[in-house]
Amino acid sequence: MSGFLKSRLLRQLGEPSLSPLGWIVKRLFERRNIIFEQAAVRLAVLEPDHQVLELGFGPGVGLKDALAKLGPHGHLYGVDPSEYMHSVASRRLASGIQTGQVQLFSGTAESLPLPDGIIDRVFHCNCYYFWPDLDKACNEIKRVMKPGAFMVTTLSISVLRMLEDYGVFKDVKWQPQPYMEALQRANFTDVNMKSFQQGSFKYQAIFAAVK
Ligand SMILES: C[S@@+](CC[C@H](N)C(=O)[O-])C[C@H]1O[C@@H](n2cnc3c(N)ncnc32)[C@H](O)[C@@H]1O
Repeated sequence: MSGFLKSRLLRQLGEPSLSPLGWIVKRLFERRNIIFEQAAVRLAVLEPDHQVLELGFGPGVGLKDALAKLGPHGHLYGVDPSEYMHSVASRRLASGIQTGQVQLFSGTAESLPLPDGIIDRVFHCNCYYFWPDLDKACNEIKRVMKPGAFMVTTLSISVLRMLEDYGVFKDVKWQPQPYMEALQRANFTDVNMKSFQQGSFKYQAIFAAVK
């Protein structure tokens, strides 16, 4: 793969746009990343009345999975800057959006369009490495969370390392440590990373709680 194609692929992974490569990336998210999304939703241990936020929801497969776990008093919010992902996820979540149980925003983790202290669970997958300012994002995430709430993100260190080795993740700060340090600076507690295995799929999850 040429350097030009690698940088175009990286741009689409970071914020997919309506284009042939954007479509391929969307299909990849739908088919391959569903396993990360389902793992994050499972680890978030959602309760029917929870107020839940997904950051960087992509095509919305994780939102769909989360919605199935909520009852009539639960609420789902999603924030993603990609107009293309917004339109794909809006179609996928159309019935929840219609009833008002799901709200999708075009925005970023660094500036969340939500009031303080309303969220029980935050989850995101394959995402923080595209945030330009980790400290700003972590402070924002914490701001919208309730005391006792927690956040979980899923990732695969081996896949990320492979993307770096192939030269696709050029200058991408995907390593968990800087993100975990930013979470600590934002005064999250119990910041920790655990490894999991599901069949042949190995992945990691980072957790952070609000006191
Ligand atoms: C690699 S995709 C992951 C999508 C989906 N979570 C998945 O695992 O398939 C990264 C997503 O994060 C979104 N994104 C990029 N920058 C963001 C930011 N600053 N805040 C929130 N989301 C962002 C992108 O638009 C994209 O949908």
